[in-house]
Amino acid sequence: MASELIFRGHEPHLTSDSYSPKPPKPWLTVTRPISYMLREQRLLFVFVGMAIAALIFTFSAPSNPRASIPDQSIPSGLSLPHPQPHGVVYHNGHLATGFGINSVGKIPLGLKRKGLRILVTGGAGFVGSHLVDRLMSRGDSVIVVDNLFTGRKENVMHHFGNPRFELIRHDVVEPLLLEVDQIYHLACPASPVHYKHNPTNVVGTLNMLGLAKRVGARFLLTSTSEVYGDPLQHPQVETYWGNVNPIGVRSCYDEGKRTAETLTMDYHRGASVEVRIARIFNTYGPRMCIDDGRVVSNFVAQALRKEPLTVYGDGKQTRSFQFVSDLVEGLIRLMEGEHVGPFNLGNPGEFTMLELAKVVQDTIDSSAKIEFRPNTEDDPHKRKPDITKAKEKLGWEPKVSLREGLPMMVSDFRQRIFGDHVENGGNIFSDKEENGGRISHESRENSGS
Ligand SMILES: NC(=O)c1ccc[n+]([C@@H]2O[C@H](COP(=O)([O-])OP(=O)(O)OC[C@H]3O[C@@H](n4cnc5c(N)ncnc54)[C@H](O)[C@@H]3O)[C@@H](O)[C@H]2O)c1
Repeated sequence: MASELIFRGHEPHLTSDSYSPKPPKPWLTVTRPISYMLREQRLLFVFVGMAIAALIFTFSAPSNPRASIPDQSIPSGLSLPHPQPHGVVYHNGHLATGFGINSVGKIPLGLKRKGLRILVTGGAGFVGSHLVDRLMSRGDSVIVVDNLFTGRKENVMHHFGNPRFELIRHDVVEPLLLEVDQIYHLACPASPVHYKHNPTNVVGTLNMLGLAKRVGARFLLTSTSEVYGDPLQHPQVETYWGNVNPIGVRSCYDEGKRTAETLTMDYHRGASVEVRIARIFNTYGPRMCIDDGRVVSNFVAQALRKEPLTVYGDGKQTRSFQFVSDLVEGLIRLMEGEHVGPFNLGNPGEFTMLELAKVVQDTIDSSAKIEFRPNTEDDPHKRKPDITKAKEKLGWEPKVSLREGLPMMVSDFRQRIFGDHVENGGNIFSDKEENGGRISHESRENSGS
């Protein structure tokens, strides 16, 4: 038996009423944990633990710190924890690249990225392939996704074998998953003869926006001046909403791009995807599709083949013509700058179709004849970009005039039509790494041309 529980008569009688526990000493609740911490260097361990946690948080920062910022501009002076990739561009004194802004957190700790991973949809096409040349020459890793509907393998073949380059034959109307930092979305047939048969814009853009959202990539849409339709305002400013026939033969392209712009802004506002929108005006240059119904390529191919230049309507409708290297420069500045857009990217020099025909005659064959044909439906009468916004916000304006750019396109067309030898295979950009010192875009600009 437990003797302690047995009442012993000689001991004082304790009643429950007489029991009163000692009041707790308040200072003990503070001093006890402190003295516990100070014993056996426990405090040192706590500090070491805090330092390790701080390090881990520093190197695994959130993948998209801008995601919750509704403002459309990246705060200036944003400093990035990762090494600056080769060829990164600075604008206005601060780093202007998607790298580090979108997906720094996606790199497993301890793995270093060598440059940007960039997806160019439609990268085997005319504009896309020149963009790829620029991105490759500055050291980025480029994935081209193209179904080769209007694009050609030959346009990007000079990068085959380079470990930084991949070509995937894929139709963007089907979803796909790739880990990338930036997406230039160009995939879409751009000429009337092709886009009527392949309306890609809406579904393709939706898929690529979904990908951008999923992997935290910055997304650039190549929209078009066609969103202005047959404009009632001249020249066209980005704030003009356009005059588009929603049910015409060109609508699948015009309205498709308008919808693509809407989707892009919805993903930006609703899902915090970083987006950029370029409205591209008529662009020409080497690697354009021959005979695709676009006026510059039509005239050049016809003049080379000694055929009459076909002018639709009275030839007084106007267009502006931008050389492709100027466009590529604008697209890269837009992608890496801090503004969503939309931005007009085009050459404000305005030419009637007859004036263009005259430049082609002067460049290729002064005896080339002109043949008039009835105009196509919904052909805009005037087109000329107002590029004030791009000048102010991107520090961009075109440098290459029509008379300078056309000969570069002519030698490429000559080679493709007649098999003539052309030195650089249509690569107009300097690519010291791979192509041995071609004339750079900058040096041509600075030559005063
Ligand atoms: N060149 C211009 O004057 C001009 C003007 C305004 C806008 N744009 C836009 O710029 C972009 C590029 O135009 P471009 O002149 O280089 O045209 P392009 O036809 O030479 O290039 C388009 C590329 O996209 C690919 N493509 C088409 N549909 C696809 C699909 N469903 N899936 C995957 N790839 C597909 C084609 O094979 C081609 O390589 C287009 O989005 C176009 O709308 C161009």
